[in-house]
Formats: sequence, structure tokens, C-alpha cells
Amino acid sequence: MAGPDPAGRPGGGRVGAPQGVGGIEPIVRSTERMVLRGLVESDLDEYARVLRVSRETWTPWTPAADQNASPTDLFRRELERARAGARAGTHVRLGAFEHGGPLVGVFALNEIVRGVFQSAHASWQVSGDRVGRGFGTEGVRALLDIAFDGAPGGLSLHRVQANIMPSNAPSLRIADKVGFRREGEALRYLRIAGRWQDHLMFAITSEEWPVPA
Ligand SMILES: CC(C)(COP(=O)(O)OP(=O)(O)OC[C@H]1O[C@@H](n2cnc3c(N)ncnc32)[C@H](O)[C@@H]1OP(=O)(O)O)[C@@H](O)C(=O)NCCC(=O)NCCS
Repeated sequence: MAGPDPAGRPGGGRVGAPQGVGGIEPIVRSTERMVLRGLVESDLDEYARVLRVSRETWTPWTPAADQNASPTDLFRRELERARAGARAGTHVRLGAFEHGGPLVGVFALNEIVRGVFQSAHASWQVSGDRVGRGFGTEGVRALLDIAFDGAPGGLSLHRVQANIMPSNAPSLRIADKVGFRREGEALRYLRIAGRWQDHLMFAITSEEWPVPA
């Protein structure tokens, strides 16, 4: 569905992109405890540390191929995916750092589609040494702000989707807390931890955001 914007706007309708040029401008977003920004080469050591301490927390929800890759390879792949996605206007992948402190997690809007859809898939991971302190919820709220806000700093999307395995209780709780609506169930949807896994499908649209307190 990528391609010319049916609404006829310049730049393929990508908000935040220079007119007539593809891509997404670098996005930086502060929350109460974190700053979300694109990862850079010098984040390698911190990223590798997070991978080490997160093995137990992340493994059940991670593609099997990622579990055997080296931290350096995973970091390179993450950087490349983020940069290629930013160039193409299809991904916003952000490291979340405690203010002046360590990497806490990675939050992303993937598979951004413009045109009549204006949609993305959200993903989130919190470092194993920081789970259970509300960072996941705080990061996903920031992600939805980025998705629905206009330029500069936002993508003006209409819809954000999230697919979650029924056994992933913390992620289901986050989806509920931030206001995702359950839309259905997709059988054998993604190949996670070596098996095609059923997922519950959630979505939220800009009309529903921000969720009233
Ligand atoms: C899912 C994940 C991001 C949660 O991060 P987090 O920082 O711990 O999340 P939060 O602290 O903001 O919220 C987690 C909520 O789940 C709840 N929770 C945690 N474990 C739970 C369990 N076993 N059963 C029910 N609820 C649980 C927490 O109590 C909290 O809810 P509360 O605020 O009402 O108390 C983190 O565990 C992670 O990175 N997991 C691996 C990657 C992953 O699963 N990504 C998502 C794929 S869809």
C-alpha cells in the first residue's frame, strides 16, 4: 500500500518529511522519566548490556533467530532497520533512556502505511532490570503521542495496532491501561520462539486518544 498518497499531498503524505522527499525527520520525545530517541553507534555497549539482562524476560516473545544472534549483530540489525525505515517513512524505532541514565527499552511504530490507511503497528520491550516499574506503560503512551500528534515531532497517524500473544500478561495489561481496544484474534499469526503463535489483535484510533483520565 506504500506509494503515492491518494489524498494527493506532497511527500507521499508523510507528515514531518520535507515536501517531495521520502523519510521521517528524527523524532525525540521526553516523558516524565525517559527520553525516547533514535539509537546511534555509541549506544552499542548499553544495548548489549540490556540484551544480556533481558534474556529471560524477552525470550518467550522473541523470534528464535534473534535468540542465537550476537549482541553486536542484533544492534547492527536494529540500527539498519531503524535507518532504512526512517528513510522509507515506514518505521520509527526509538531507544528509551532514563534521563541522564541507562537504556530502559525500545519502543517502535512499525509498518507505517500512509494513503487511506494512516496506520502503524506498535512494539515495545523493556529491559529485564527495569520491568515492573511502569516504564512500559510510560513508553507506549509516548509512542501513541508520537503516532497521533501532528508535525513537528508527530506522525499524524489515524490508527495504531498491537498484536499480543494471549499468554503475555504484562503486555496485555499495558494495552488495556493505555486504551487499546481488542478487535479480534489472529491464528498462527507470527513465528515467535520457533512456533507460529496465535495473537490477540488490538487497535486504537486518533479519535480515542488521549484516553480520558
Ligand atoms: C511487556 C513489557 C514491555 C512490560 O514492561 P513493564 O515496564 O514491566 O510494564 P509496566 O510496568 O508499565 O506494566 C506492566 C503491567 O503488567 C502487570 N503484570 C506484570 N506481570 C503480570 C502477570 N504475570 N500477570 C498479570 N499482570 C502482570 C504489572 O502489574 C503492570 O500492571 P499494573 O501497572 O496495573 O500493576 C516487558 O515485560 C517486556 O519487555 N517483555 C518482553 C517483550 C514483550 O513482550 N514485548 C511485547 C510484545 S507484544
